[in-house]
Amino acid sequence: MAGYFNEISDDEKAERPSALVDETVKFVHAIRKYILGLLMFQFVSPFLRHYFPYFKNKSDDYIQNIKFINQRMDTIIKRRRQEIENTPLDKPLPNDMLTSIITANTFRDVNYNKIDEKEAMRPMTDPEIRGIIFDGIIAGTDTTANLISFIVYYLAHHPDVKRKMFDEVDRIFQDDKTRPITESDVHNLKYCEAIVKEVARIFSVVNSFPRSLEKPDEIGGYQWPADTMLRINIDAIHHNEEYWEEPNKFNPDRWMVEGFEPKKNSFIMFGGGLRVCPGRKLAMIELICLTALIFRKYDIDLIDKKAPLKTESATVTACTELLVDIKLRN
Ligand code: HEM
Repeated sequence: MAGYFNEISDDEKAERPSALVDETVKFVHAIRKYILGLLMFQFVSPFLRHYFPYFKNKSDDYIQNIKFINQRMDTIIKRRRQEIENTPLDKPLPNDMLTSIITANTFRDVNYNKIDEKEAMRPMTDPEIRGIIFDGIIAGTDTTANLISFIVYYLAHHPDVKRKMFDEVDRIFQDDKTRPITESDVHNLKYCEAIVKEVARIFSVVNSFPRSLEKPDEIGGYQWPADTMLRINIDAIHHNEEYWEEPNKFNPDRWMVEGFEPKKNSFIMFGGGLRVCPGRKLAMIELICLTALIFRKYDIDLIDKKAPLKTESATVTACTELLVDIKLRN
């Protein structure tokens, strides 16, 4: 946050040691570079990458970048392991993702006593922990961050929906603007959940995902050989009249109808089957909490309501600019 603040602020800077900020900025830039580099390894053949200087230099640079990320993450994991070891057994550990993964299947795991000894798995190694955290960063940051921007945009364009959301949030928090949100609040924020789902339906943040055919199959009336790569078009399915009434209408109330369930495979914001998004529950909790906690305290409007939503689509549809006016609610 401090790094991002410093990047966008000309005169005022965050009150943080600059070495620490520089280190994290470097890490964030390396992650961005990694994402850009993925295209190189997907679309440029190994032959070109190994023997053509232009591609070789670029791919070597990306590989160095991955090594840098791995080293940084290994240092962070080792440091946290040390902190956990130095924490007395009667002192609780923090609930963050890294601590939970390091302590999983050890006696410091909060669920350890509930695990049947025969079923208990071994704790994870550093490279496994690094893989999980890295997946979380790559797949779980831009997705949630962009979706919350789209939520702000759609709420600003639908004051009736925003009003109903304020009513729900104010009823649940009873005008308390600071108390921490609880698990039962998250279950009770049904309209906020409906808003998250409806924004995700009408404006997909991940617009498609790939599948490869294991064996020949018929799809869409055509025969396809084994190993054909297909892309499942989330956007098209979310706007298909066969599955959705008035698909182009932003209507969170459709999710509030008693017993409403989308038709099978017609709501696939998180994909489906074996490769379904493993972060889906975390993502929903984050988005419901963010929506409720931001709007219980602030009202957010758009500077220019007529301006179209500015986005750029690659693997994720990213919001490139959203100028907003944030006011404290009375
Ligand atoms: C609004 C938020 C998110 C959206 C819309 C989203 C969407 C998706 C989609 C569509 C897929 C492909 C699923 C498939 O192929 O069937 C996916 C995969 C994945 N997501 Fe998410 N995701 C979100 C948040 C997260 C979070 C918070 C995490 C982790 C902390 C995460 C981790 C992953 C991982 C690791 C995969 C790859 C799974 C695999 O290939 O087996 N995602 N996500």
